[in-house]
Amino acid sequence: MRLHVADHPLITHKLTVLRDAKTPSPVFRSLVEELVTLLAYEATRNVRTEPVEVTTPVARAQGLAISEPRPLVVPILRAGLGMLEGMVKLVPTAEVGFLGMVRDEETLLPTTYANRLPDDLSDRQCFVLDPMLATGGSLSAAIQFLFDRGAVDVTAICLLGAPEGVEHVRQATEGRDVTVVLGALDEKLNEHGYIVPGLGDAGDRLYGLV
Ligand code: URA
Repeated sequence: MRLHVADHPLITHKLTVLRDAKTPSPVFRSLVEELVTLLAYEATRNVRTEPVEVTTPVARAQGLAISEPRPLVVPILRAGLGMLEGMVKLVPTAEVGFLGMVRDEETLLPTTYANRLPDDLSDRQCFVLDPMLATGGSLSAAIQFLFDRGAVDVTAICLLGAPEGVEHVRQATEGRDVTVVLGALDEKLNEHGYIVPGLGDAGDRLYGLV
């Protein structure tokens, strides 16, 4: 697994406002969108392309087009939805699938409760959106789900991560082509599974339940 932690003052500035408990939901939502676009710039560095030629008003020019099959963007419900708009703005030709993951309270294992994805992901590059990489359980399960359907490589974009979650994903995806792009790597998880210092519950802050 490759880990890329953003290192840019604009990203840190936007994350600082996002972390602030006083930031209201509408501002939080637009900051998430802006941050995803900035992180997606890094996350799509290896998006598959092919050479194309266009005619400018002056001459022929060589360029790149995003290859088929188109990249698949997969927000993990619910909080990943808040990241979708920013991602498709940057990669408008991407297809979008959805995965809902929930932790089974008996087994404590993440299970899939919703899935709107093509059955066959052979040869697909996938971009998973999940704002908080906390324990890493649901992100690992989502990544495994995509590989089970034939995905060739998976890049996860998360706003914040905890070292415990990064390690979990690293071990669970050993031998696979996985990249994790984080806005920041925080200190730790607390006893309730929240990222410290973090930003609280990303879903609640996006959708206004606090
Ligand atoms: N999910 C969140 O929304 N916040 C955390 O801190 C951890 C998991």
